Amino acid sequence: MSESSAAAAEAVAARFEELYGSAPDGVWAAPGRVNLIGEHTDYNDGFVMPFALPHTAVAAVSRRDDGVLRLHSADVEGPVVELTLDGLTPGSDRRWTAYPAGVVWALREAGHAVTGADVHLASTVPAGAGLSSSAALEVVVALALNDLFGLGLRGWQLARLSQRAENVYVGAPVGIMDQTASACCEAGHALFLDTRDLSQRQIPFDLAAEGMRLLVVDTQVKHSHSEGEYGKRREGCEKGAALLGVDALRDVPYDDLDAALARLGEDEEVRRLVRHVVTEDHRVEQVVSLLESGDTRAVGPLLVEGHTSLRDDFRVSCPELDLVVDTAVTAGALGARMTGGGFGGSAIVLAEETDVPAITKAVEEAFASAGFKTPRVFEAVPSAGARRVR
Ligand code: GLA
Repeated sequence: MSESSAAAAEAVAARFEELYGSAPDGVWAAPGRVNLIGEHTDYNDGFVMPFALPHTAVAAVSRRDDGVLRLHSADVEGPVVELTLDGLTPGSDRRWTAYPAGVVWALREAGHAVTGADVHLASTVPAGAGLSSSAALEVVVALALNDLFGLGLRGWQLARLSQRAENVYVGAPVGIMDQTASACCEAGHALFLDTRDLSQRQIPFDLAAEGMRLLVVDTQVKHSHSEGEYGKRREGCEKGAALLGVDALRDVPYDDLDAALARLGEDEEVRRLVRHVVTEDHRVEQVVSLLESGDTRAVGPLLVEGHTSLRDDFRVSCPELDLVVDTAVTAGALGARMTGGGFGGSAIVLAEETDVPAITKAVEEAFASAGFKTPRVFEAVPSAGARRVR
């Protein structure tokens, strides 16, 4: 553990003690993520390739045995929220507390004997930036309860339960990528995940050793009002799969894409969605083989292709994300794309280390002359997945 994360764990534990009157049973951390490639494929049973950020949600937690759940967050103004486990009802909570409470609900609904907890949370994952701050909150609580109640669940199972909390309790129809990334990523690696069966491979991803960097550009455009559009894309993909007679778009082979598109006839909307998902799955496989053969720089053009597909076919980009990609590539980046659900949030930029200052400056200047908010640019180093820190 780095010195700064040990200090963060200490601070969260101290605040827990102030709030609840005794030291926590333990402290856990779960990261946000960026996705290198494989966007809007996870609810199509396809492939994704996220890696964990150094930014984490940290939870100090003690178990209780009286059916009470007490929640507090350093990131939200307000007092401790007290809930009863028997009163947890999907769809009843519109506040931040729905994420941790949803996890408790999902664990109990799956038959796990969770009898209550005191929780204090503090997160460094930027909210609304497309970097999975919600998944980090869910997974850190799931992991803490898994340890404290001896549930013996594996990372992928915690991810599934966290996704269920978000789908059913919070009411957001997200896929499985973010929770699995937060639960299962490893430092120095990207996670090649098959979202159909959650089989996974850790792919070494050490850009610094090869003289490259990966930047995250948070456009500061909050993507929180996008749920309706996300759901519409998801329904369109399901319609495409049904029309093609497959369980999920993952089952359309890349080599059969033209034939599949021809079978979809005049339905241009569905044709575009299908084309994105099938080509994106193919790009993930190409990126995996490039990384495994040490040809990392050749990943760049695939990132740009992915962005173009998300912009033109899937239509989940926005002017700010497009401006990051265009400006970064013009300024010499190896590649760039939006990352996460889209409609705002963040883009990633793959670049030679020596080109980083010029690219950062070009993006900032382009945003200023377009009259956009100043973007937040930081370097992303593949970091550890969820773990106990104290
Ligand atoms: C959001 C969702 C994920 C995934 C991405 C798009 O981050 O939470 O499940 O669908 O969008 O790839």
